Amino acid sequence: MNRLEGKVALVTGGGSGIGRATCERLASEGAAVVAVDVNDAGGAETIALVKSAGGEGVYHHLDVTSEAGWQALIETIEAERGRLDILVNNAGLYRRGFLDDMDLDEFRQLFAVNVEGVFLGMKYAARLMRKSGGGSIVNLSSGAGLIGSPGGVGYCGTKGAVRLMTKAAGVELPRFGIRVNSVHPGYVDTPMGASVIDAIGGDPDQRREQLTRAVPIRDWANPEDIANGIAFLASDDSRYMTGSELIIDGGATAQ
Ligand SMILES: NC(=O)c1ccc[n+]([C@@H]2O[C@H](COP(=O)([O-])OP(=O)(O)OC[C@H]3O[C@@H](n4cnc5c(N)ncnc54)[C@H](O)[C@@H]3O)[C@@H](O)[C@H]2O)c1
Repeated sequence: MNRLEGKVALVTGGGSGIGRATCERLASEGAAVVAVDVNDAGGAETIALVKSAGGEGVYHHLDVTSEAGWQALIETIEAERGRLDILVNNAGLYRRGFLDDMDLDEFRQLFAVNVEGVFLGMKYAARLMRKSGGGSIVNLSSGAGLIGSPGGVGYCGTKGAVRLMTKAAGVELPRFGIRVNSVHPGYVDTPMGASVIDAIGGDPDQRREQLTRAVPIRDWANPEDIANGIAFLASDDSRYMTGSELIIDGGATAQ
């Protein structure tokens, strides 16, 4: 499929997991990819993978919590590419913490990356998308943005916020030709997925099995499973979708 030929796509957190798979997938469909991350080695590796598969891409350092960083990045993309069609707000942090244990600094750090980062991304990317004649923004929420779990007061809080920010922006921006949708993965095999198991503690294999038992499909997603959904929302195949949520969780939140 070449659904994204001629489009420029910006992916935050492109140096690992779902972000890397998304860069590879969008590039394979013809997009010129701009991967950003704070993990420069991971970002460079992603771009090497994109290029070795015949795609086009570049890496830039961006801490998504930096407003000045976002402004400079969007200026760079405008200067280098002249347009922006797709933003995937994927960079994220996971912390498990019960109310009594989680301190305010940790709570704020989660919100800085997972919520403020998404706000800044939508704000500055939309400016260049408007000049480009429209675009598609995909925000990574989570199953944890749909239902709560013990120890999730911070993380679930951030992902619930992303869900509703998506709906608000998703009804505000279509007048500029911009659609905004959220993706809600369940358990995904990435470094963050592994950290979910670590955070619970105990034997990792047993923990994984226990978590998997609650998933009707009885398996974890690959990053590519999530990238498939992101590519659909990024493309014109979803032209009538905005403010919508795509749940890719093996049925975990359907029961
Ligand atoms: N893995 C899962 O099970 C799962 C489930 C649901 C939702 N998600 C969401 O999907 C997204 C991607 O998760 P993943 O599993 O690929 O995680 P990951 O940890 O493998 O990758 C996240 C990337 O974000 C980057 N990042 C973190 N803070 C950043 C910052 N301030 N600025 C720029 N980049 C930053 C990291 O360096 C890393 O490369 C996240 O938003 C996550 O919350 C993941």
